[in-house]
Amino acid sequence: MDTSDEWIVQRTGIRERRWVEGVTSTSDLALEAARRALESAGRAPEDLDMIFLATLSPDHFFPGSAVFLQTKLGLAGIPAIDVRQQCTGFIYALSMADQYIRTGSAQRILIVGAEVHSKGLDKSTRGRDVTVLFGDGAGAVVLEATEVNEPDRESHLLSTHLYSDGAFAEELWVPAVSTAYDEEIVDQRMLDRGDQYPKMNGRQVFVNAVKRMPEAVGVALEQHGYQAEDVDLFVFHQANLRINEAVAQRLGVPEEKVFNTIEKYGNTTAATIPIGLDEAVKAGRLESGMLVASAAFGSGFTWGSALLRW
Ligand code: ACO
Repeated sequence: MDTSDEWIVQRTGIRERRWVEGVTSTSDLALEAARRALESAGRAPEDLDMIFLATLSPDHFFPGSAVFLQTKLGLAGIPAIDVRQQCTGFIYALSMADQYIRTGSAQRILIVGAEVHSKGLDKSTRGRDVTVLFGDGAGAVVLEATEVNEPDRESHLLSTHLYSDGAFAEELWVPAVSTAYDEEIVDQRMLDRGDQYPKMNGRQVFVNAVKRMPEAVGVALEQHGYQAEDVDLFVFHQANLRINEAVAQRLGVPEEKVFNTIEKYGNTTAATIPIGLDEAVKAGRLESGMLVASAAFGSGFTWGSALLRW
């Protein structure tokens, strides 16, 4: 395609990304992330009560990819649920898992964000605005029920806040495969139009993301009586480095409190936040007892935030 490193770095901050090879699917990447998360939590797959897998690039149209992940983990019987909230998918999945734990319905839940974008992008110049952004990747966390006696110190999820506005659904979407047209679900005319590839109104996404992410963080902080300066680390969705710089500016937080990975991985959609948490730990930027704020914005439009004590 007709593009340049300079255009990409200047507008998005992306310098590298990863793409899978061969038969590797979304649930294969999810499996690797799940294994590593379970290992670092000191848990076995059999300890899980539920699985949530957030992705916009599923292995198949149906069933969802969570059941493929479940089987690859050697599990059967427990609920395995797909979350289709795109860039906000991880925050949505985290929120849903939190509700099951708070009601006592589950004790330990695996939450994975995973994407294989590389097999669904228009690699011609026609698709360059979208295609340069996306990388493949996966990240996972294990969420457990816990008694919190010292909330200022002990690891726990304080709260999540979720939002959506379907009026913007067609500003960032993949029009096909589709039951919404007077055509078969996969039709040659769709393929001729390139409807199987993501379409994005980049400006509209940018403007709304820089408004909605700080709003969602603000609601979370207010609920718990915190100010932005009380937060030790911000781990935002990685859509575009410029978006996160603008969000940090609006929240009035210094850049060194924002942990970004987009330079290295591009936009891995539902995977960006768990990848960010993992990389922050490995980089020594995220330590036990820290207050972490996360927020995401994406297709739907959907957006949301999570506040947690690591
Ligand atoms: N390489 C070279 N030129 C390009 C490319 C490319 N990859 N893509 C677009 N261009 C051209 C356009 O054709 C246009 O040319 P023209 O002026 O001759 O028509 C020019 O660059 C400028 O295009 P704009 O769309 O106006 O560029 P803009 O400055 O708005 O930046 C961008 C585009 C980076 C996509 C920006 O709108 C943006 O960051 N939007 C947010 C979208 C985003 O981050 N999405 C991530 C996925 S969604 C999510 O995760 C929330």
